[in-house]
Amino acid sequence: MATLRDELLEIFGGRATRRYGLARINQLQHALQCAAAAEAASAEPSLITAALLHDVGHMIHALGEDPASHGIDDRHEEQGARWLAERFPASVSEPVRLHVPAKRYLCAAEPGYFATLSSDSMQSLTLQGGPMSPEEMAAFERLPWFTEATKLRRFDEAAKDPHARTESFEYYLKYAEACGRHLAH
Ligand SMILES: [Fe+2]
Ligand SMILES: [Fe+2]
Repeated sequence: MATLRDELLEIFGGRATRRYGLARINQLQHALQCAAAAEAASAEPSLITAALLHDVGHMIHALGEDPASHGIDDRHEEQGARWLAERFPASVSEPVRLHVPAKRYLCAAEPGYFATLSSDSMQSLTLQGGPMSPEEMAAFERLPWFTEATKLRRFDEAAKDPHARTESFEYYLKYAEACGRHLAH
């Protein structure tokens, strides 16, 4: 039986060469840069793992490379969180589930945040519901993983640099091993 480590290496070694939305980087580079940003911020191992795996939902659907450009919201945050919840604690899966709402939250909460988004993040925001209303913001702030979700979102936006250098996927798996119940060798 394949271990979770094998499963992750297969997904991120193979399908992750898909282009990341409209950016000039692929999914693997985006994942590694996001994990690197979390590590640089001295985040918990669970949040570094969430950063590394936050877009796994893009890699386990069958909607093609860039469904957002065709007006389709792939709901990758929900698909990814469900997949992660079967394999990791809530401290990994729940920030991932909220990383799209966190963008909608930050766009409403911080003047100027929208202007910092990459073009694909701006484009998908409309499909995802646009900035939150004050009522939605208040409800979002009460969620248990609110703080982690907004941190993850900032790592996500900082992870789209075509020239950034990072450690390898296997390097960041040590964080997954520190928090994953099932990541046996
Ligand atoms: Fe995402
Ligand atoms: Fe992302």
